[in-house]
Amino acid sequence: MKEHIEKIGTAGEVSLAALKTMAELLAWEIEYLSRKSELNTLLKGLRDLSPEEKKVVGPLANATKQKLIALFEQAKKDLLEKSIDWQALAVDITAPGVPVHVGHLNPLTVVEHEIEDIFTSMGFAIADGPEVETEHYNFDALNFPKDHPSRDMQDTFWVKEDKKVKDRFLPRTHTSGVQVRYMETHKPPLRVIVPGRVFRNEATDTTHEHTFYQFECLMVDVEGQVTVATFKYVAEEFFSKFFGEKVTIRLRPSFFPFTEPSFEFDISCILCNGKGCATCKQAGWIELGGAGMVNQKVFEAAGYKRGQYQGFAWGFGMGRMAMMKYGITDNRLFLSGDLRFIRQF
Ligand code: FA5
Repeated sequence: MKEHIEKIGTAGEVSLAALKTMAELLAWEIEYLSRKSELNTLLKGLRDLSPEEKKVVGPLANATKQKLIALFEQAKKDLLEKSIDWQALAVDITAPGVPVHVGHLNPLTVVEHEIEDIFTSMGFAIADGPEVETEHYNFDALNFPKDHPSRDMQDTFWVKEDKKVKDRFLPRTHTSGVQVRYMETHKPPLRVIVPGRVFRNEATDTTHEHTFYQFECLMVDVEGQVTVATFKYVAEEFFSKFFGEKVTIRLRPSFFPFTEPSFEFDISCILCNGKGCATCKQAGWIELGGAGMVNQKVFEAAGYKRGQYQGFAWGFGMGRMAMMKYGITDNRLFLSGDLRFIRQF
């Protein structure tokens, strides 16, 4: 028995030293260390031996098994180490980096973020409103007469009427509808901007799109606190910060049913120093939006008492601001999906 165990030990050691692959190692483990291996079968038979024989054979069998286990673990480690391709894992720290392709923000989004940053630094809140609006908020509450041309299908996209629903719905034509929505839930003093997407049934050209972006600005306080002078100051502060240089502002009398008095708001074309270029259509000025002092009828629609509050509102085209800031000559590029355009920002 003693010789038999020694023979198994020696054979195990010799064959283990000759192994080259993991598969061979696993086969070896089954042959020498599994429950059905010769060595384990011998160990199980120890109980049939006489006490004297047990004293000699027992420790020898156990020591042989422990030795084979230790040799097996070492061989496994060696084989694993050999199987790793260190060459392939090596990093060449002198090689040039692989460029990471990050996405690009649409210039309209860049401009929106900049506008929000400037206005929040001036204490304005940012509000949102639904893109599919009711006729009430888009027109009625803003004092649009029932026969106003913008209520016509030619100028406004309308959602198909549902006789079961009282309201008529439309993709909003401007962000001004949020004025009343916001004032219904907030009391003056208030200052808020509303950036958002609007839609008009429009023949498109370099400065007109059917889908474009505006941002509404609304500042209201008790009578006498917010005047046209406040409006001019806030507008000049904002545009100078936005364009990073002093821009000249021009107000022209205009008409909007929801402001009284109303202005058309132009800024000098910074691309040509007000001299005339393609972006400003050789005029030296570019129209950015409409503005005015909030009509008391709008305050009433929001539930305020007539004559109690005073404020200004404006609605500017964000596309036009982006065009001026980045020298873009056609506003149809914004939503064209042309990556050659977007990748420049
Ligand atoms: C309005 O939309 C008013 N709601 C603005 C307003 C707000 C007036 C608050 C008074 C008080 P208007 O239709 O002029 O006004 O549009 C405002 C600006 O949106 C324009 O000056 C222009 O910059 C931009 N805009 C208008 N139509 C288009 C269009 N089709 N494509 C691109 N930008 C446009």
